[in-house]
Amino acid sequence: MIKTKPGARLSLVTIVLSMTLLACSDSEDSGASGRWYTEAQINAGVETFRENCAECHGDRAQGLVENWRTKDTDGFFPPPPLDGSAHAWHHSQSVLLQVIDNGGEALGGKMPAFANVLSHSDKLAAIAYFQSFWSDEIFQQWNQMGGTN
Ligand code: HEC
Repeated sequence: MIKTKPGARLSLVTIVLSMTLLACSDSEDSGASGRWYTEAQINAGVETFRENCAECHGDRAQGLVENWRTKDTDGFFPPPPLDGSAHAWHHSQSVLLQVIDNGGEALGGKMPAFANVLSHSDKLAAIAYFQSFWSDEIFQQWNQMGGTN
């Protein structure tokens, strides 16, 4: 019978534990590392997004319609996901703010305008919230498309 030394077993447990902890803190870090927003902005954005955006874009910005690239039977494009799986990352921050301010109605779309509904910091918080779902890769691509410009 092979006997493991109690010390050896303990250090194995320690290694596994610290790896798990590292993995956790890694994924939390990658959520905010290199990003323009703070945790507080994401938290503020949760509420703003739920109250103003989620009915169309889903409460985790995942979108509610699978075929968002195809017009609905009513002739309008459905709300796209904003979680990085569609193309919101093609728009720099100032363009995202314009979309939120003006909506899509003026361009023949369905999104209402929020210029007079939300404060500037609420709009930024809503963006921070949906960008918190973006992978680092998508976030990098957004930076290359203009990022916070
Ligand atoms: C009544 C439904 C509705 C609400 C509410 C709504 N949107 Fe939209 N959104 C749309 C639709 C539909 C589009 C596609 C353009 C269009 O048809 O107007 C869109 C497009 C967008 C886009 C552009 C995405 C892209 O890939 O180009 C962004 C960004 C966006 N919305 C953000 C928001 C935010 C942030 C809120 C809340 C403050 C919000 N929307 C509230 C329906 C909505």
